[in-house]
Amino acid sequence: MSNSSKPIGFFDSGVGGVSVLKEAVKLLPNENFIYYGDNANAPYGTKTEQEIQDLSLACGDFLISKGVKAIVMACNTATSVAVRQMREQYSIPVISIEPAVKPAMETSYDGDIIVLATEGTLAQPRYNLLLERLHATERVINVQCKGLVTLIEKGKINSKEMDEYIRCIFAPYSSHRVDTVVLGCTHYSFVKNKIKQFLYENFHGNRHVIDGNGGTVRQLKRVLEEKGLLTASTKKGKITFFSSGDRKFIRLMKRLYQMNID
Ligand code: DGL
Repeated sequence: MSNSSKPIGFFDSGVGGVSVLKEAVKLLPNENFIYYGDNANAPYGTKTEQEIQDLSLACGDFLISKGVKAIVMACNTATSVAVRQMREQYSIPVISIEPAVKPAMETSYDGDIIVLATEGTLAQPRYNLLLERLHATERVINVQCKGLVTLIEKGKINSKEMDEYIRCIFAPYSSHRVDTVVLGCTHYSFVKNKIKQFLYENFHGNRHVIDGNGGTVRQLKRVLEEKGLLTASTKKGKITFFSSGDRKFIRLMKRLYQMNID
């Protein structure tokens, strides 16, 4: 098999990276994709750095064993802890994701920028350096969303629990003008519409809700182009889902893949 006809590998701690995969398929419809969710070990956000590094490398090894031509780390937490080790370990391109603070800074003028992310991502020097580099430290309110990944892994997207969760995370900012909410975890894209609706009903300001998915897949395309790795196929590509956990997660991934998130 020529290198360009190999599949592209995606991984995440669980089902969240499916939101990035959806964008990738829109941009690169003729590519084949392998998606690996490490559901048996989700969430990553509460684990130690060493654990997240080891788990990310195990996901990378799984994708390499499937013969992928590039790896997309569709997980902000894994990226912030393990992207350097992944790039050292593998000779194929490794594309990563980070909270979309840059586009938020470019389009927000007066109100607050609220970044929702896991404990793991917010605690990492990589994220804090990003804020410093963008002179964003003063503009950004960081909100740790403990337990949100687990709710989404349970498929509880349209549930009372989710509505209550969203209400609670924004409650401390009820008097703020909100320009942009950055979804700094790929799982959260599946509640993007719910968050948008909540902000419209309860807040003032521009109330944009953005994620880093588009930027990541555009980077994927650029890298594949540069390396001559884009497929020559003109047929619609195939997606294969794998999970380290129960088969029910494959069903959830397929259901989320069909969901309209924008
Ligand atoms: N989707 C992962 C992220 O983007 C979730 C991490 C977790 O499992 O806590 O950060």
